[in-house]
Amino acid sequence: MTVGRFPTTRLRRNRTDAWTRRLVAENRLSVDDLIWPVFVMDGAGQTTDVATMPGIQRVSVDRLAAHVEPAVKLGIPAIALFPATPAALKNSEGTESSNANNLICQAARALKAEFPNLGLIGDVALDPYTDHGHDGVLRSGPGGLYVHNDETLALLARQAVNQAQAGIDVVAPSDMMDGRIAAIREALDGEGLIHTSLMSYAAKYASAFYGPFRDAVGSNAALKGGDKKTYQMDPANSDEALREVELDLLEGADTVMVKPGLPYLDIIRRVHDTFKVPTFAYQVSGEYAMIMATVERGWIDHDKAMLESLMAFKRAGCAGVLTYFAPKAAALLS
Ligand code: PBG
Repeated sequence: MTVGRFPTTRLRRNRTDAWTRRLVAENRLSVDDLIWPVFVMDGAGQTTDVATMPGIQRVSVDRLAAHVEPAVKLGIPAIALFPATPAALKNSEGTESSNANNLICQAARALKAEFPNLGLIGDVALDPYTDHGHDGVLRSGPGGLYVHNDETLALLARQAVNQAQAGIDVVAPSDMMDGRIAAIREALDGEGLIHTSLMSYAAKYASAFYGPFRDAVGSNAALKGGDKKTYQMDPANSDEALREVELDLLEGADTVMVKPGLPYLDIIRRVHDTFKVPTFAYQVSGEYAMIMATVERGWIDHDKAMLESLMAFKRAGCAGVLTYFAPKAAALLS
C-alpha cells in the first residue's frame, strides 16, 4: 500500500485542477469500448418505438443501414443484432432460427454490403423464435416440461452456422445451455467457418432486468410470466460464474460476457482478474430503462449518468460494453 499521512499527504491535490484529474485518471472510456444492440423487425418502411426503452426503436431491414449509419460514422466498432420475429413465424421448436432468410440473416447481408468494416454480432438463442419464449426446446423432464439441453444444442449450432453464412462475424450464444460453445465451434469449423468468433454470454443471470428487452422482441408475451431459472444463473452465485467462464474458455470461447452489467460488477472483476481474457458486459434493457426513467423525471442528468455508468464497466475490468447508450455516448466521446 502507498503510505502517507495528513497533513503532508493530501489526496485532494491531485483532484484540484482539471488537468491533474486528466493526468491521474486510471481508466478511459472511448468509442472503441462500445457495442450497440439493435432491434430488427419485419416488414418494410417500419420504425416502431420500444415503449419500455425510451429512445430505442425497432427498424425493418430496409431502414437498417440508415439507422446504423450515424453510429458507424462515430466509429462504433460493432453492433449486436436482435430480431423481433413476427408471432406467426414462432413455433415450439424455434425453426425460424435456421431459416437462411430470417431477420438476422437479412440484416447481416444488408449491413455487410453497406458497411463492410462494421463488426456484426448475432445473438444465438431460441427465445426470439419459440412460441413459449424459452431459449431451448421443451421436453418432459424434471418438474414437468423442461428446457432440453442437448436437443437445444443441435438447434443452436445450426442457428450459428446460418448466421455466420449470412455474414455475422461474431456469434454470441445467450441461452446458457451446457456445452453450447463446443457444439457451436464444432459446427462452425465443420463448415469451414474458422474465422467466425464466439462471444459467450458465459455468466448470464436469471434477471428481472431483461423485462424491457423481452417487450422489444416480443418474448415476454410468449413467456407468460415464466422464468429461466433452470438455465440462467442464480443471482446469489459468484464462484459458479468462474466455473461457467472456465468451461466456455475450454470449449473455445474467444471472448466472454457477464450479464446484466452494473449489478454484477463484482463478477466482471473476478472473471477478468482470474482469466485475463477479453471480458465484456451487457448493460441490459432494464438498466437502460432505469436511467432513462429517472432522467425523464428530471431526477438525474442523462449525459453524466450515462457516462458514469459506462466508466464503471471499464473500472471493473471490461474490454467493452454492450449498451443501448452506444450512439449517444459515442457522440459525447468523439
Ligand atoms: C435472449 C436474450 C435476452 C437478452 C439478450 N438475449 C433476454 C433473456 O434472456 O430473456 C437481454 C438483453 C437485455 O435485457 O437488454 N436469449
